[in-house]
Amino acid sequence: MEKRYLLAPGPTAIPPEVLLKMAEPILHHRNPLFESVVEEVRANLKYLFGTKNEVLIFASSGTGAMESAVTNALSAGDKAICIRSGKFGERWANICKAYGVEAINIDLPWGDALDPALVEKTLKANPRVNAVYMQATETSTGVRFPVKEVAAIVKNYPNTLMVVDGITGVGVFELPLDAWNIDVLVGGSQKAMMLPPGLAFAAVSDKAWEFSKTSKLPKFYFNWAKERTNLEKNQTNFTPAISLIVGLRESLRMIKEEGLEHIYKRIDKLAAATRTGATALGLKVFAKSPSPAVTAIVAPVGIDGQAIYKTLWKKYGVTGAGGQDQLKGKIFRIATLGYADKYDVITAIAALEFTLRDLGYKFEMGKGVAAATDSLKDQ
Ligand SMILES: Cc1ncc(COP(=O)(O)O)c(C=O)c1O
Repeated sequence: MEKRYLLAPGPTAIPPEVLLKMAEPILHHRNPLFESVVEEVRANLKYLFGTKNEVLIFASSGTGAMESAVTNALSAGDKAICIRSGKFGERWANICKAYGVEAINIDLPWGDALDPALVEKTLKANPRVNAVYMQATETSTGVRFPVKEVAAIVKNYPNTLMVVDGITGVGVFELPLDAWNIDVLVGGSQKAMMLPPGLAFAAVSDKAWEFSKTSKLPKFYFNWAKERTNLEKNQTNFTPAISLIVGLRESLRMIKEEGLEHIYKRIDKLAAATRTGATALGLKVFAKSPSPAVTAIVAPVGIDGQAIYKTLWKKYGVTGAGGQDQLKGKIFRIATLGYADKYDVITAIAALEFTLRDLGYKFEMGKGVAAATDSLKDQ
C-alpha cells in the first residue's frame, strides 16, 4: 500500500467533505434546489474575491475566464501591456494576439520580481493603453507579483483596466477586487478553491463593466453580460457544471468558516516552512519574490530537476511539479495552496530528502525536516 500526496500547484487535493457533496445525485439546473445553491455560491464568491459585484462562473478551465477578460473588455486594434515573465504571462500576450489586440510586452527574466515603476514607465511611454494584464502568482516560476502596487498606478488611468490572473492567487493571499481597484480578477477551481478543474471565475469592477459596453471583440460562450443577467436569477447562461458548483458551495463554506485572514496566514507559514526546509538542505529558492502558492526550488548542480520531480511521485508518492519550458530540468515545485497543512510540508520535505539521497546529492539527512518542523512548531 502506498499513500499518495498531491502537492502540485493545480490540480490540488480536495477535502473529503467536498468530494462527498459532488458524489450526491445530480440536481437539475433549472430547479429551485439548484438555484438556492447558486444563491449561496454567489454571496460567498463575493466574499472570496472581495467585491460587491457578481463573480461570473464559467464551465471551463481558468484560461476561459482569461480569454473572457480580453474579449469582453477590448476591441481589435486596442493596446494592452502584458507582463511576461513565465508561461502564464505569455498566455495573456497570446490571447491578445489571437484577437488582434496589440500586446506591449514587459519581458522580465523568469524568476525576477516586478518593479511596479516599470509598469508606470510603460504606461507613460504608450499613451493609449487599454489594459494591463498580469499574474498574481506566475505559477511557472513561483514568483508573486505586486498587484496592489500596480493597481494603485493603473487606477490613475481612466482608459486603462487592471486585469489580474489570480488563478494561483485567489484564496492564497489578499487580492480584494474593490479595495485594491482591480478591474478583472480571474480564478480557477482547481487551485486554492479546493475543487477539481472545470470552473473558471471572473470578478468584474464597475469600470470594467463600462469598458464591456463598447468592447467589439467577438464573444459567444464567454459573454459577461449574459452570464450576469442569468446569475442575478440564480441561473447560468448554459448548462452549468452542476456537480462542481455543488462542490463549490461546500468548499466556499469551508473557506468562510476558516476565514480568509486565517487561510492567508496558514498558507504563508506553509510556504515559509517549505523554503526553510529546502534551504536547510543547501538548495536555493528560484523566485526572487516567492509566492506562498508554490515554491520553485533550483535543482542542485549535476542533478536533473525532472529526475527529482519524477522520483518524488514515482517512488515516494508526492506529486509536485517539474519546471516548464525554459525551466524544465532546472527547477521543481512544491505547492502549499488550498487544502494543505503542516504535515503536507513535512511529508514533502521528507520525500525530498529520500529523493535527493537516491540521486546522489550530498547532505545531512534529516536537516530539512528538522528545519521545516521547527518553523511550523506554532502552527
Ligand atoms: C497562474 C495561472 N494562470 C493560468 C493557468 C491556466 O489555467 P487552466 O489550465 O485552468 O486553463 C494556470 C494553471 O496552471 C495558472 O497557474
